[in-house]
Parts: sequence; C-alpha cells; structure tokens
Amino acid sequence: MPSEPEESNFKDKVRIPAYPTYEVGGVVWAYLGPLDKKPAPPLFAWTQVPPEQRAMSKVWQQCNWLQALEGGIDTAHTAFLHSGRPPLLRAADRAAGRPERDLSLSPTVEVVPTDYGFCYGGIREIADTSTRDVRAYHWIMPFHSFLAYGENGGNGGHMWVPMDDENTMGYNRSALFKDPPEEASLGAPRWQGGQQEAEAPRVTDGPDAALWLRDARLPVGNGNEFGVDVDVTRNFRSTRNADNRYLIDRELQRTQTYSGIPGTNTQDRAIQESMGGIADRTLERLGTTDRAIIHARRALLKAVRTVQDGGEPPGVAPTYYKVRGYQATLPTNVNWFEAMRAKLYDRGARVEIAP
Ligand SMILES: [Fe+2]
Repeated sequence: MPSEPEESNFKDKVRIPAYPTYEVGGVVWAYLGPLDKKPAPPLFAWTQVPPEQRAMSKVWQQCNWLQALEGGIDTAHTAFLHSGRPPLLRAADRAAGRPERDLSLSPTVEVVPTDYGFCYGGIREIADTSTRDVRAYHWIMPFHSFLAYGENGGNGGHMWVPMDDENTMGYNRSALFKDPPEEASLGAPRWQGGQQEAEAPRVTDGPDAALWLRDARLPVGNGNEFGVDVDVTRNFRSTRNADNRYLIDRELQRTQTYSGIPGTNTQDRAIQESMGGIADRTLERLGTTDRAIIHARRALLKAVRTVQDGGEPPGVAPTYYKVRGYQATLPTNVNWFEAMRAKLYDRGARVEIAP
C-alpha cells in the first residue's frame, strides 16, 4: 500500500479475495460457489489427451446463456444451417463428390437421462438402406455439450459461461481420442480455430456442379479462428456480428448455402443472437426434434429447486469424467445407446442411467 507509512501494519490486515482455480486442458477453471461445496476438479476425458490432440478457442456471444446452450444441444439444425442448400434448390442437385448417403432432414431425437445430465441420439434414416446415422451427444449439466465427428475419435463441443443476462462467453473445444492408443486414428483433430477443409467433399469445377455444392470448396472454417473470426483485442468479439449483420452474402445465400455466412459457429451465433438478447419464449413453438431441449429445461428447473433446498445438483459428481461423443452408422433395428455405449464412455466409466 504505497500511501501507508513504511511501519504501518495495514498490509498485514488486508487480503485480496480470489476464487479457487484449476488449470487443465488449456483452460483456467474458476469455482465461484461456497467452498464447502467445491466439486472435484473438472477432469473431463478431453482434458487428458496430449495437448497436440486438442484445441480450444473462445468467443463472445451476444445473447442469453440459455439461448446459446439450447442452440448447442439442438442437432436438427445441422443439416440446414451448416450443410444445407438454399431452400428452393432441389435435392436432385446432389452431385458427384457429395457423400453417398442420403440422410433424412428430420431426425428422431431420443434422450437417455443420466446422473450428469443426458446422452441423446439424433437419429437420421438413410434412404434406400436398412441403416441409420446416429449422432450421440452428451449434455453435462449445466453448461457442457459433447459431440463427435464420425467414428475416428474426433470430438468437439462447447462450454457456455454467462457474462450477464444478454452476453455469454462460448468456449469451443476439440479433441482427438486414440483408443487404444496403438490403434491411432488417421484423422486429424478438427481444430476449432483455423480454416478446416478436411471434411469438405471434393467437388469438380464445371457448369454441371450444383451451385450449392461449390460452397464445400470454400475455406469455411468453424468461425472461431483468433485474429480472423475472433477479435482477441476486443474481449473475443466475433468479427462477424449483429452490428455488421454477420457480413451476410445474399448472393451466396441465394445460390449456394443456406445462411450466406461462412463458418459453422458463426452461423450458430447469427441464429442464436438474432433471436434477441433474451428471446421471447412466449412466441416459440416446440417441435418433435426439440425433445432434448425440453428435457434440458425441465432438468435445469429441477436442479435450481434442488440447490435451493440445499441439495446437490446433477453434474457435480465426477461421473462425467469419461464421457465422449460418438457418431456411427447402425442397423435400423439395434438400440443405438447400447450399441454405442462402449464408445460413449471411456473405459472404467461408472454412469448411472436415470430411471
Ligand atoms: Fe450448430
């Protein structure tokens, strides 16, 4: 204390309070609750892979925390917002280079409640086959999503931390699981920062290529690259944001992509933020694919009451340590959760499935 005399004992009586922190997985985690309730460290499976097999970015979202969370839980929008063509372009415009599988645009969503939140499957029938694509996500309460990119061990997901009622910091992570390590996947991690073209189908040039498919050749990235998509000097503000209308390209939107906005997570932000800082829920209509979101809302309300009554909410006990996302093609007649269970939970996981 420079204004105090040297012999003053003022410095011995004043303490600067600080929250306990824990550093793992490239993140500084802070615990803001009562000390006697401090949970086990956040040793998610993705934090335990070598640093070169994981990546992390963050970006300021200008919307309410629940809006961002629900957008992340939802799976149905993927086929439209992220990989869809303009609404009036025909399905027959699928061209060479596009994955062979013709996935249904209306997934069945099945929720498996667990002691940490839920696991849920976005199930898409594959036309002209007796198989279906199952994208299994986890929601670890209250603010983590886990998803997979196919069967090669590539995982991703988000964490959302409220800044205030109308602003949220979104953390975007990716990880590559090699299990067992000697059977390392050939796939590269899907880095959240950077221009990612690894999954883009190869499309030949020429007048016969469907216009919307040409987008696949664009370096669309995930929309989270520091210095490009995210202005780190302005508290991780998205460079495409509501103020500049996400620099939407209407011509691109008319002829090639559903949104006219490049970058997967930029597309997410545009949709979640343009609902308003706090969306008017009285205007919404929930459909069958909103099953997981309905479940999440009920679980959050129940958890609030549990905490108010002095109890422990879900997601505190470290049963989530071994959780992974997974996506697979399965025969139509099998139980997806049982079939994928060994992939959804790392070895040694003890997860209670809620009744
Ligand atoms: Fe999305």
